[in-house]
Amino acid sequence: MNDPQKHWDEKYQKNPKLNPYSEFLPMVEKYLPSSGDCVDIAGGNGRNALWFAEKNFTTSLIDISGVALDQAREASHSIGVELECIQRDVERNSLPLERKWDIALITFFLDRDLIMQIPKFLNESGIFLFAHPTKKNLERHENPSSRFLLEDSEIFDLAENLDLMKTEYIDEGWRASGKHEAWMVCKKLPE
Ligand SMILES: C[S@@+](CC[C@H](N)C(=O)[O-])C[C@H]1O[C@@H](n2cnc3c(N)ncnc32)[C@H](O)[C@@H]1O
Repeated sequence: MNDPQKHWDEKYQKNPKLNPYSEFLPMVEKYLPSSGDCVDIAGGNGRNALWFAEKNFTTSLIDISGVALDQAREASHSIGVELECIQRDVERNSLPLERKWDIALITFFLDRDLIMQIPKFLNESGIFLFAHPTKKNLERHENPSSRFLLEDSEIFDLAENLDLMKTEYIDEGWRASGKHEAWMVCKKLPE
């Protein structure tokens, strides 16, 4: 993909719909602190970030697409919640080095190098939430295509290789949405 920002801007322009939040979130709510700072990485037009903002977490949304962030900002205004929107290419530039959060969320965005860097952007006891479809998803859906999917069972290796993190919850399977997704919740240990 030559220009990912252009690609995603066009997608969000064509389809500005705000999808419902991921079913992963209510399932993992019991692992979350009662308050704190949260970042939704490559969070699109905010379906999941707004779930956190509505629960009074101080929420940042990072995405490469300015169009998606404008849509998220508008949605946050219309429901009356605060949302910090940061336009950034996280594949090229990772996350802002000066920032740390209590919760980091990635759904439906696969950058294995970035996943390995997440612990350094979390406060102590910070929670990393990750949900992504696996190759088994191809049995029922053409998209996302193979190169954007996790290998079957890869989630368990990713969890093992994360520094300074304890796995609180991990599994993969067919979800109510009809997709085959890996879900992972990890907590940052004291350094
Ligand atoms: C499949 S969408 C998932 C959006 C959201 N996480 C969700 O679950 O609805 C992938 C998102 O990644 C964003 N994205 C793609 N490449 C990116 C990059 N290099 N840096 C930051 N965001 C990126 C896109 O703009 C898009 O919003």
